[in-house]
Amino acid sequence: MEKISESTPGDQMPSRRGFGYAVIYGLGALIGAALAIPAALYLFLPPKSRKQQSWVEAGDLSQLQPGTPQEMTFRRLHADGWKIYSEKGTAWVVKTAEGKVMAFAPACTHLGCAYHWDANKADFVCPCHASEFALDGTVLSGPAPRPLDRYETKVENARLWLGPVHQGGETTS
Ligand code: FES
Repeated sequence: MEKISESTPGDQMPSRRGFGYAVIYGLGALIGAALAIPAALYLFLPPKSRKQQSWVEAGDLSQLQPGTPQEMTFRRLHADGWKIYSEKGTAWVVKTAEGKVMAFAPACTHLGCAYHWDANKADFVCPCHASEFALDGTVLSGPAPRPLDRYETKVENARLWLGPVHQGGETTS
């Protein structure tokens, strides 16, 4: 005699309960992943290294007189990890009689003091230990060990753009 299986309403309960648990666990796993993945990316991906804008616009050259340096100020963006900030920079900009443009970093190459243009002497003078630099950045006197550091420069529509700084004495473009 064949046994006939009988199902009762109670037999369906374990599978319904299992489905409910699966849905709850699945949602829990999704929420956990949604929280954990960004946190893991933040913690384990290396932050962007410190970078700065490679070229920055420094100003208008149309009023710059040949042989009379002008101090120009500009702002450069830096990325430090996840933070981006802007930093003020300056350059002493010189136009030669031939129309060549040079831009010098503002720190003396001896110990980093800010130098200035002395119109009477017609050279750059550092007040700290009396180094003097010519219009082309070469050392005229004093303890400065090398010429003034120079920015790479390019001119577009009479606007000066400054690139990376090179140590005085290196070749720049
Ligand atoms: S820092 Fe300029 S001469 Fe010493």
